[in-house]
Amino acid sequence: MGSHSSDDNIYLLGRDEAETERLNKQHRFLVAISGDTLIHPSIPKDTISAVADIGTGTGVWLEDFATKHPDPSSLDLHGFDISPAQFPTAHEIILAGKTRIPLSVHDTLLPYPPEHLGRYDLVHIRLLTAGLKQGDYTVLLKNARSLLKPNGYIQWEEVDTTSFCTNKTPELPAITTMRNTVIDAMLKLGLWPFAPQTVYDEICAGGFQHIHRETYTTEGKEHVHGIVTKWVAGVMRALVPPSMVALGKAENEEEARRKVDVLVGEFEEHCKDALALVSLGVTVGQRID
Ligand SMILES: C[S@@+](CC[C@H](N)C(=O)[O-])C[C@H]1O[C@@H](n2cnc3c(N)ncnc32)[C@H](O)[C@@H]1O
Repeated sequence: MGSHSSDDNIYLLGRDEAETERLNKQHRFLVAISGDTLIHPSIPKDTISAVADIGTGTGVWLEDFATKHPDPSSLDLHGFDISPAQFPTAHEIILAGKTRIPLSVHDTLLPYPPEHLGRYDLVHIRLLTAGLKQGDYTVLLKNARSLLKPNGYIQWEEVDTTSFCTNKTPELPAITTMRNTVIDAMLKLGLWPFAPQTVYDEICAGGFQHIHRETYTTEGKEHVHGIVTKWVAGVMRALVPPSMVALGKAENEEEARRKVDVLVGEFEEHCKDALALVSLGVTVGQRID
């Protein structure tokens, strides 16, 4: 589950097969709550053909982008991640029309190799909170910016873990417990749970212009009721056990998983007549030199 990939890098989630499947399903959920769009409407889509995805995980966002593009062979796509554990075999995605999307191992807190500098129209980032300390955001953005062509765009999406709740009051104690456990563990591990606001602040401070910010939520979207309950349950099953271990609330992951199964069961029962409220913050900015 939670792993330390080097002395400096902490990552709260696992990278096993179950987590790979969760990331791929999560992609569909996140796209569904963002109006079925991969690229924010403030970005002129016809200017985007070279795209880098930082912290790409399984590469699912890039694969979906290419699959939906009218001419995938015209695209220059590249995924980067600090770990290849969730990459497809041979570190590349091969689409039906034989378009290849290469994936490289790279810690985004380090400078990118020269062949990638100034090459991309869009740098996409999604859900890096589980691996970023507060001070990392500035470094990450500087490196992300270096990948962009002049006038290129950054689009960074983060879920607000600190606001996880449902539309039913009073709040279920199991929800309070799970939310606070994750926040406390992240702070204890030196990670930073307040991602959407920090992303916006850092993009504003990082030399980007024409900044757009949008928060997508499940509020009022009864049609996502089933999918959001499943998604939150999956996130909690992935995040809370390592958080409990980090806080000393369980001796090992097995014990933590047993405790979390009970909490998640209560959450699922509660959601039979409640809607889980999730918010996804998206910030877009343009590199103007
Ligand atoms: C929760 S996953 C999200 C994956 C993908 N962006 C998505 O939305 O499906 C976070 C990913 O960020 C990667 N990551 C964490 N720290 C990183 C770093 N310093 N540089 C590059 N990737 C990193 C992890 O290895 C993991 O694959």
